[in-house]
Amino acid sequence: MNLIGPKAYINTGRLKQNLWNIRRHVGDRTIMCVVKANGYGHGAIQIAKAISREPGIIFGVFAVEEAVELRENGLENDIFIFSRMQAEFIPKAIELNLILNACAMKDLGALAQYKTEHQSVPKFHIKFDTGMTRLGFDQKDQNEIFSFIKESVLKPQGIYSHFATADEGDLSYAESQLNQFNKILETSKSYEIEFTYIHCSNSGAILNVPEAYFNLIRVGMLLYGVSPSDEVPMDVDVEPVMSFCGPIVNVRKVIAGTQVSYGGVYTTKKDTNIGVIQTGFADGFPRPWYEKGFVSYKGQYFRIAGRVCMDQLMVDFGDTEPEEGEEVLFFGKKDGNEIPVEMIAKEIASTTYILLTAIHGRTKRVVI
Ligand SMILES: Cc1ncc(COP(=O)(O)O)c(C=O)c1O
Repeated sequence: MNLIGPKAYINTGRLKQNLWNIRRHVGDRTIMCVVKANGYGHGAIQIAKAISREPGIIFGVFAVEEAVELRENGLENDIFIFSRMQAEFIPKAIELNLILNACAMKDLGALAQYKTEHQSVPKFHIKFDTGMTRLGFDQKDQNEIFSFIKESVLKPQGIYSHFATADEGDLSYAESQLNQFNKILETSKSYEIEFTYIHCSNSGAILNVPEAYFNLIRVGMLLYGVSPSDEVPMDVDVEPVMSFCGPIVNVRKVIAGTQVSYGGVYTTKKDTNIGVIQTGFADGFPRPWYEKGFVSYKGQYFRIAGRVCMDQLMVDFGDTEPEEGEEVLFFGKKDGNEIPVEMIAKEIASTTYILLTAIHGRTKRVVI
């Protein structure tokens, strides 16, 4: 016996098409598909399984636990871990072929020590901070880092950095980050250190900064068919992978002047049908969207009536009488209904990253 509730339909056909279109755009490069945070709310395992056999795919996760989960579900691709490496990850990384992220001298020290003690070392990439001021070595320390790598005969598989503003209209900061990264690459050459992978691009850079593709691109949001921001030209054709829907569990006929939901901030203007939808903010529905928000049902749009509750929300269907058990679409694109998540993010001053990763609670992911 299962409560009916919200569903996130995951369209793997669109996911693959998005990947193929991204590949056509960036050319013959390795693609790191970012499936951290449960695949941006889409379900990391389902997403990874759908594309794991495409050529040249690496997965990017944040936590070592996320990588272990992929391995436990039979995924054999290389997996890169974005979080700062911890020395205790090293044996696990070797055992499961995980790629670690070295971004401080202490990390290189731990890798060198492990190598001395065990004559083996996991794959790892070195990260330089070029302006995000998050993880990464400072450019000013590059000589010390490259000397240490040479002396301890460590062989990083990759070198990378991360843009702070690649999805913005003004690209001057991204360009200065790229310049810095290119200088670091020049220095590495003077130490005769070679990298299998050099990478800098996220979705924003894929759309905005082709000079930053190097030989691997990291892609999250665009793969899920969503624009990383409203400032980038969307010149890669993608379609939303997730359609977030909720079931109508009750239809109430109410008269004009009826208050709906907490606080009574919504009052019906005429006699109308109020639908109760079994989805709330505990399931990932963006609560602030109720003020201007609407849902799509059979190709038409209907206003959200009053405040979104923890588990339910109400919709004003006017003269339309929906059937109990049918679904409304909150965002995505399905069965003639379409509401871009980008539009909701903009209207409520949020981001697509926040809205998608918020999908949780009782929401069931259904692969279609
Ligand atoms: C280091 C790093 N690379 C790549 C990505 C993917 O970014 P996007 O979803 O914009 O493609 C992220 C996402 O947060 C990230 O942290």
